[in-house]
Amino acid sequence: MTLIALAGCAGGAGYGSAVPAAPSATATPVIEAKPNPAWRSGGMVAAANPLAVEAGVEILKAGGSAVDAAIAVQAVLGLVEPQSSGLGGGAFLVHYDVTTGDVVTYDGREVAPRGATPDMFLMADGKPMSSLEAIRSGRSIGVPGAVAMLEMAHREHGKLPWARSWQRAAIIADEGFAVSPRLNEMITTAVAREGFPVEAATYLTTDGRTPLPVGSRLVNRKYAESVRRIAREGAKAFREGPLADEIIAAARRDPVPGTLSHEDLRAYRPNRLEPVCDTYRVYVVCGMRPPSSGGIAILSVLGTLENFEMSSMGPATVAGWHHFIEAQRLAYADRDTYVADDRYTSVPLAGLIDKTYLRSRSALISPSRAMTSVQPGSPPGSTPRGRDATGVGTGTSHFVIVDTRGNVVSMTTTVEGLFGSQRMAGGFFLNNQLTDFSFRPVDDSGAPIANAVAPGKKPRSSMSPTIVFRDGRFELAVGSPGGNAIIAYVSKALVGMLDWNLSPQQAVDLPNMIARGTLVAEVSRADPVLLEQLAAMGHSFRSNRGAGEGSGLHAVRVLPDGRLTGAADPRREGRAVAVSP
Ligand code: DON
Repeated sequence: MTLIALAGCAGGAGYGSAVPAAPSATATPVIEAKPNPAWRSGGMVAAANPLAVEAGVEILKAGGSAVDAAIAVQAVLGLVEPQSSGLGGGAFLVHYDVTTGDVVTYDGREVAPRGATPDMFLMADGKPMSSLEAIRSGRSIGVPGAVAMLEMAHREHGKLPWARSWQRAAIIADEGFAVSPRLNEMITTAVAREGFPVEAATYLTTDGRTPLPVGSRLVNRKYAESVRRIAREGAKAFREGPLADEIIAAARRDPVPGTLSHEDLRAYRPNRLEPVCDTYRVYVVCGMRPPSSGGIAILSVLGTLENFEMSSMGPATVAGWHHFIEAQRLAYADRDTYVADDRYTSVPLAGLIDKTYLRSRSALISPSRAMTSVQPGSPPGSTPRGRDATGVGTGTSHFVIVDTRGNVVSMTTTVEGLFGSQRMAGGFFLNNQLTDFSFRPVDDSGAPIANAVAPGKKPRSSMSPTIVFRDGRFELAVGSPGGNAIIAYVSKALVGMLDWNLSPQQAVDLPNMIARGTLVAEVSRADPVLLEQLAAMGHSFRSNRGAGEGSGLHAVRVLPDGRLTGAADPRREGRAVAVSP
């Protein structure tokens, strides 16, 4: 049995001795998550690419744990969906252990090198660099953390040998795989934005500019070699040796070289952190604490909505969507202002999801009119902050795995932008995660911005891998890519399943409505009458067309009869596949 901390304290600091200590524990009321030795429901893998799903299913059938399967899924995703995640990126993982009832999270977020400075994304005239220049610069590359995080999770929850989970990816990389429509589309999008750097162009185009056609076979022997090295050496392969050398060389190359060093790679440690959990009606919802803003922001949306009878409104009503949109606007305003790496910036974590505070925020929502403007509140424990200036990215993936014993992994993994920094090492793309920092360290009034760059600091994330419990038992797991829209996507799926009684697939299929700043509506899926009604209430919106990758929600839920049901986002290429008990 676990006692889940409500707005709990951090685990250890993860980056060398110069890093500030983790914040001290806040008052931690506790919620129970129970072991479930009677699990007979079988397993499931829901992920964004069929080859990755197959790799995960193969591991579950071989008796592997959810973490063993997560390693296999990540290894294949990094190859077949390189625009989204991979070995050169970072990740967050929420884990439920069915035997002990423990819920823990793993933080494999990239850290800024020791040489990073608050003004590293500013030009000589003090203005921020263009996002493309920053993304492709060596300065955007943080120390990759996904593999080190998986290694830590494997030490604690692996059943099969570490090397076993890497086999499928090595085989596919050697034999090649068919370029999928989505990969082709993402290469096309990336090339259209001023082409690719030479290495990426050689790998992903036929002549430097023409994207590899759909169905063409893509072989990546360097990837196979890296995977075999990682299978043998573990995350040490990132700390020293030829792979580490390649990573450093790629980050230090022109144009705009970064400072990433061997010392930075050697100093990287993933973290095990307590989840941030709170009740939502009859459920307990658990997610990531900082450096992700995801768990807090989702609990802030839900805690605001808890003050309304959402179930009586429903997905076909304008009232339902109006309240959902307004709750998001309030949550985003707080999240943008107050959340960052809490080893560097004090984050009023408990205050942001305090039920009394959220009740006062919910009173700002009118039943009939959109709020004319939305300001951050003053949650208990907060100090004033500057106005955030953090941009958005487009490369991430989420998957959910339940193993046949009933252990659960909910993992969101990212290289940040499309193909990350577009710089390669060892056959994979290196992240551009450091562009998740605010480019400006202070706002126009000179007030310091919480998410400013600092050496050893982790950029704020929106990634929201989530697990929900009911009566202490696993109920569902969900998450999505989508940059800061992740919070909107995952909240939508949760409201759809928990309040509107929809199946995971129906909830995933609902139109996306992202209410951070101007409302962005998925007009191709939304009922035009509903959009007109929202406009009549004062919601001005723009279409989501052209707004990055969109959602990639993947979810698994336990049905009342004990069977599992899953969902794969129709906006991507994935699926959810069951494995019998
Ligand atoms: O950590 C984050 O929040 C972002 N780097 C995630 C980027 C992302 O989801 C792009 N989406 N498709």
